[in-house]
Amino acid sequence: MAKPQAVYMTYPILTPDELRQAVARLPRVDLAHLPTPLEEAPRFADRVGSSRIFIKRDDCTGLLFGGNKTRHNEFVLADAMQQGADVLVWGASTQSNNCRQTAAACAKLGLDCQLHLSRATGHDEIQGNLLLDYLVGAKVEITDLGIGPDLDNLMQERAGVLRAHGRKPYVWDRHHVTAVAAVSYLLCLIEILGQLRRQRLEPSAIYVSSSGSTGAGLALGKLVLGLECPLRSICPIRWPWNVREYMAEIGNRAAALLELPHRLTAKDIDASEDYLGPGYGKVSPAGKDALELLARSEGILLDPVYTSKALAGLIDDLRHQRLAAGSTVVFIHTGGTPAVFAYRDELLPTNSGERRA
Ligand SMILES: Cc1ncc(COP(=O)(O)O)c(C=O)c1O
Repeated sequence: MAKPQAVYMTYPILTPDELRQAVARLPRVDLAHLPTPLEEAPRFADRVGSSRIFIKRDDCTGLLFGGNKTRHNEFVLADAMQQGADVLVWGASTQSNNCRQTAAACAKLGLDCQLHLSRATGHDEIQGNLLLDYLVGAKVEITDLGIGPDLDNLMQERAGVLRAHGRKPYVWDRHHVTAVAAVSYLLCLIEILGQLRRQRLEPSAIYVSSSGSTGAGLALGKLVLGLECPLRSICPIRWPWNVREYMAEIGNRAAALLELPHRLTAKDIDASEDYLGPGYGKVSPAGKDALELLARSEGILLDPVYTSKALAGLIDDLRHQRLAAGSTVVFIHTGGTPAVFAYRDELLPTNSGERRA
């Protein structure tokens, strides 16, 4: 009897222009400074023994210190406005970059912003991102609930109260918002490929800090554009669910929004939880080393919670020869830099001389 053959789905490969056209069908507001630069980091590459490393400067998306969420919010806030929202109900940790950029986007678009911020990971002094939330006029509630399902439920509750008072809240709804946000990283991938191709280069590998929309959008873009190179998402958080399945689902909901037939499975997601160190929101020794190394070799600042851990993952792969000699590596800098001010005690370099209380 003939052996059953495995069935693999093949999807049409789209050109960057075809993909841009699919994305253009969704509502979008102009918030970010785009395209962000793709900057080569030769002194850093020298220090880690790789030939070419390019940093996609999504920390330079512009709005209130920038970051990946400003790209996300071009689609998320357009969706909110299309739904007639007059207030955003958002939440995460007290040093959330997402909340800071969302509060800034609300200010720019004339929407109210109500933030529910968890102090569960510490850092609730009014510094860094939290200070900026207040400066752009967000209404802030600080809670002991942890981020994830508990905080998600609190936001739904608070949105219910607003509705009862005749307001039109657009509330952080993980299922919907993550997919809308992911669409923006299809465009980021197109930007990166175009910037490399102008230098007659193709990526050998792409690294990003993500356990959600950013990596999911890039993974969908890789599938749609037929890109072969590895795309590694270094997770800043361990969710109480399977991150590969979660990111594939986000990508698939984004594909459905764009009416694309492409579908990801968990196997299409290369997500690593190996560089979390002591946990979400806590500085890891390898992350701190990575932050110092990039700062001192290129003058580029990473953040303590996301990008420094992702760069630690890239450095580890390079040091263990998991990337071939002569590789062209892209590291997407997703921002988060205002948090360094709230993490002063953990980040102060050990050789900085006199320490002040
Ligand atoms: C600086 C930074 N990088 C990366 C991420 C990861 O984003 P996501 O998991 O939503 O893709 C975040 C999320 O808040 C962030 O603030």
